[in-house]
Amino acid sequence: MLIEIVLPGVVEPDGLQVARRPLPTPAAGQALIRMEATGVSFAEQQMRRGRYYDQPAYPFVPGYDLVGTVTEVGPGVDAGLRGRRVAALTKIGGWSSHLLVEAADLVEVPAGVSAVDAETVVVNGITAWQMLHRKARVRAGQTVLVHGANGGVGSTLVQLAQLAGATVIGSASARHHDALRAAGVTPIDYRGDIGAQVRAIAPDGVDAVFDHIGGPGLMTSWQLLRRGGTLVSYGSASTLDDAGSGQGPILKLVGRLMLWNTLPNGRHAYFYNLWAGRTITKAKFRRRLRADLGAVLAEMAAGRLTAQVAAELPLARAAEAMRLAESRTVAGKVILTGESSTNE
Ligand SMILES: NC(=O)c1ccc[n+]([C@@H]2O[C@H](COP(=O)([O-])OP(=O)(O)OC[C@H]3O[C@@H](n4cnc5c(N)ncnc54)[C@H](OP(=O)(O)O)[C@@H]3O)[C@@H](O)[C@H]2O)c1
Repeated sequence: MLIEIVLPGVVEPDGLQVARRPLPTPAAGQALIRMEATGVSFAEQQMRRGRYYDQPAYPFVPGYDLVGTVTEVGPGVDAGLRGRRVAALTKIGGWSSHLLVEAADLVEVPAGVSAVDAETVVVNGITAWQMLHRKARVRAGQTVLVHGANGGVGSTLVQLAQLAGATVIGSASARHHDALRAAGVTPIDYRGDIGAQVRAIAPDGVDAVFDHIGGPGLMTSWQLLRRGGTLVSYGSASTLDDAGSGQGPILKLVGRLMLWNTLPNGRHAYFYNLWAGRTITKAKFRRRLRADLGAVLAEMAAGRLTAQVAAELPLARAAEAMRLAESRTVAGKVILTGESSTNE
């Protein structure tokens, strides 16, 4: 039997349900994964409110990504995959003890990296790496502003930017400032005047801003760029509790960014979407994902990237994990574990 967590509709975290059903058999091209670690992403906060950009129909099993061990493979899949630890980006379905995944979507986890540690950088690592290296193309000596530097994506982005040789200014609430300073980040409080705080540190502006907040503050992010700088917008956290579909705020953001990008002022503005190109150029999408997640996991295996784990809870305690992730007090990623997969 497998155990999975079902999101039945728009509910509070306590409305998540635990369900059981027989283990499925992999079809051609598929692998069955025994989940060791999955996580709570901001996307699940949006999905339980019915406000995710690509909202799945209820009921469904949430879980944006997972790390686990291949237990069975379907016809046409290399039998040597059995027993290997792999990571997969799923968008939904990860909050399950076992999951069928297309074998072509699996990325191998290097030896020596635990499932929990690897899980912190699946969706977070791909997102951070691609924004940093494929969109903003950050180089050594530059200065960047990372909003939400305590969050899952943010804390990964901070480290990858530092590894690229950049100086990082990070916004977070005051409770996280000591930890950010210890990590070599200059903290600012996102509840204060962001423009004034950043200009006090970088009077000429910054080379890149990574903004998942959206709303009126996006203009400040744009104005903080120096000539040649890049704004990468990738979310709209500030509109989480608004009414209506989750698409409106994103489409509004994209419109503003496209307009700003055409202005002849030497700055660039983009919206980053992790899933861009998946349906049109699936093979290319998979190649890039494999290369980028592979690069992030290699940094972790080499000890240069540290997993930011906010908490570990067993899968059956998903409701508690979600409440914690939504408490706006945590640093790093809240992890849900399968059997015998904790970092302890
Ligand atoms: N475009 C893409 O392809 C893509 C891919 C992955 C993620 N994302 C986006 O990346 C962002 C971070 O995701 P995550 O999984 O890393 O989330 P997370 O771990 O839950 O972290 C969320 C971060 O956002 C901050 N935050 C939450 N609500 C906020 C608000 N109303 N105003 C300002 N800051 C707020 C949090 O600060 P506090 O702790 O102070 O609340 C925290 O730093 C989300 O907006 C998500 O949608 C986008």
